[in-house]
Amino acid sequence: MSEHKDFPVQSIDPDDIGHNSSNNPSFEQILEARMSRRGLLKGGFALMATSMFGMGLTACSDSNSPAATTATTSGLTLSFNAVAKSVADALTVPAGYTATVLLATGDPINTSVPRYRNDGTDTDFDNRSGDHHDGMHYFGMNVAGTAPDYSNSNRGLLCLNHEVAEDLGFMHANGPTDYGTANTNARPTAEIDKEVAAHGVSVVEVVKSGSTYQVNRYSNYNRRITGATVMDISGPAAYDDLMVTAYSTSGSQTRGTVNNCGNGYTPWGTYLTCEENWAGYFYRRNDAARTAKENTSLNRYGVSGSSSGRYNWSRPGVADTAEGVYARWNAGITGATAANDYRNVPNTFGWIVEIDPFDIGSTPRKRTALGRFGHEGAWPAKAVAGKPVVFYMGDDSRNEYIYKFVSDALWDAADANGGLFAGDKYMDAGKLYVAKFNADGTGTWELLSMSNPTVAAYATYTFADEADVVINARLAADAVGATKMDRPEWGAVNPLNGEVYMTLTNNSQRGGSVARPLDAANPRYYADAKGVTTNRGNVNGHIIRWKEAGNDHAATAFTWDIYLFGSEAAAAASVNLSSLTADNDFSSPDGLWFSHAAPGLLWVQTDDGAYTDQTNCMMLAAIPGSVGDGGSVSVANTENVPSNNNAPQTVVTRMGKTATTTTLRRFLVGPKDCEITGIAESPDGKAIFVNIQHPGENSTSVTDPNQFTSHWPDGGNARPRSATVVITRNDGGKIAV
Ligand code: FEO
Ligand code: CA
Ligand code: CA
Repeated sequence: MSEHKDFPVQSIDPDDIGHNSSNNPSFEQILEARMSRRGLLKGGFALMATSMFGMGLTACSDSNSPAATTATTSGLTLSFNAVAKSVADALTVPAGYTATVLLATGDPINTSVPRYRNDGTDTDFDNRSGDHHDGMHYFGMNVAGTAPDYSNSNRGLLCLNHEVAEDLGFMHANGPTDYGTANTNARPTAEIDKEVAAHGVSVVEVVKSGSTYQVNRYSNYNRRITGATVMDISGPAAYDDLMVTAYSTSGSQTRGTVNNCGNGYTPWGTYLTCEENWAGYFYRRNDAARTAKENTSLNRYGVSGSSSGRYNWSRPGVADTAEGVYARWNAGITGATAANDYRNVPNTFGWIVEIDPFDIGSTPRKRTALGRFGHEGAWPAKAVAGKPVVFYMGDDSRNEYIYKFVSDALWDAADANGGLFAGDKYMDAGKLYVAKFNADGTGTWELLSMSNPTVAAYATYTFADEADVVINARLAADAVGATKMDRPEWGAVNPLNGEVYMTLTNNSQRGGSVARPLDAANPRYYADAKGVTTNRGNVNGHIIRWKEAGNDHAATAFTWDIYLFGSEAAAAASVNLSSLTADNDFSSPDGLWFSHAAPGLLWVQTDDGAYTDQTNCMMLAAIPGSVGDGGSVSVANTENVPSNNNAPQTVVTRMGKTATTTTLRRFLVGPKDCEITGIAESPDGKAIFVNIQHPGENSTSVTDPNQFTSHWPDGGNARPRSATVVITRNDGGKIAV
């Protein structure tokens, strides 16, 4: 979405503006319950005879680049020809591959609603695919459809996020109704209801059908989780005073999940959806009546009073329901106590939410032990018997942090089908850490807990208890001097060696006028290659990676390097540090996924606004090496660096081995104005599911097809829509290798 495109600067959405004003140096200045869950499984299975969504999309690259034949340390070779950059309104995959649309915005997920007309008159997103497809995971299921079978590629449950409702308003006949400027004016509640329901998660059963997959609309497992679904609050913040609202005076529940961006999954068969730019959904009022601590917290998380929220859900101007269905987006003080209004409702968002796809009646749980911030996703280390379960997480906003959670409970493989009850065991108690990257290539994980004296003694915000620490994890991370990063997006753990990768998509404020000084982990400041003078900072992003001390994911020390720098191939050598070429140059890395079927294969997806004059967003396949395989590099920032006394600055860092077309190659280019985000694979590695989000997002009318910048995937004069595509190889082989 546009709010994720840090560049060009003139189109920055408030959601991505950093709120980290802390002064910490960005760099040294430098189960018994398993049974009950599975007992609920039922198998309804009646496959559609034909796909409703079967718009096949095959395209061939015209690149002349050869297929690689050189083996790498992983033993893998990339076996496809690179796809050329493109600005066409088409999805392009390599020769010999086929992409098929599986599920697009509004498509029915069951048989209760008619086919999506896509003219703004459709209703009932509770029974349709939501909008803006994002993070995603495939859970294999047994042939009978009665239990998980994580190895089954023929039948499974696909869980996918719906980050937002498209901003221009394609889901409404004429866009959102103009509600004027007065704060008391109404938005039609039918429009609000539709937008709320288009957020969240879809769970759909997918079945292999011939050479591709289709959605089984008759499956009992299909369901929507939306911005209105009741959620349990679990972990240290549950029942805390800061979580009390009129809806849940005990502070144990809230309604809805929104801005579900990246994702995760657990070793016990559940899906994790992650709440990213949630702060913009709420309207903050009546600051004078709040405590100083409350205002410090709201400021640090960017909950604003400058508008009535991204969608203006909080000011319907109509009589609300008794349950406060609309008032709940108003974070102002309107009642006598917190139990009478929604002043605390922002505290009930910003979490990792666990969903059991196999238990259709289960209530999602917000896992507060993993901290509250702008969660991109949560990526597990491989579960090892007798060791803690570990999740890596990024906070996607400018100058925010990288975190990890280490469970208190030690992994027991008997919990592999444990559902939410295993979640209670492994995710409700543990240690939350934030990362500090040192200039010498070492790093440390700093504990966020009252047991850390630096947190307990923090002067800017006096933490009351452990609940306060997880609710205000950003402030606790400020206290310990965490390293401010260039917008952490997705992470991934290399199954071959346990090394952890995380994309840092870009940062217009790195070294900029709202300056974060350059540091070894965020070392670049330069001008957009097109010379757009407002586009400076870390324009194209990079991917950092680290190795935990002793290969122990619970360790508190690590070593790191920068795996890859994004760049245009034609950029100066001081920018194109990874030696990217026409076959593999990219900008603004975002999605990341290490294949499990082909260990050592890494997928990189982009969400870019800097290189889009020459190419739409893309996905690349990579076969990376390991931390330290490239040595030291001096990054010559030839531009003046405002945060560093306005002089050019050289930063010494460590960089991975430079890329070649043998180790990095473009696999896919999306349609116009989309981002590529979200990837899942079948366990046999012969199919990947990829999400195409917001094609045509720079359209300027919802009714005049001539002003749509994309008509993908339906073609003709159709309104563009987001979609999941399935990509298979025509010879039936594994994808990419
Ligand atoms: Fe929703 Fe960080 O991308
Ligand atoms: Ca992004
Ligand atoms: Ca993202």
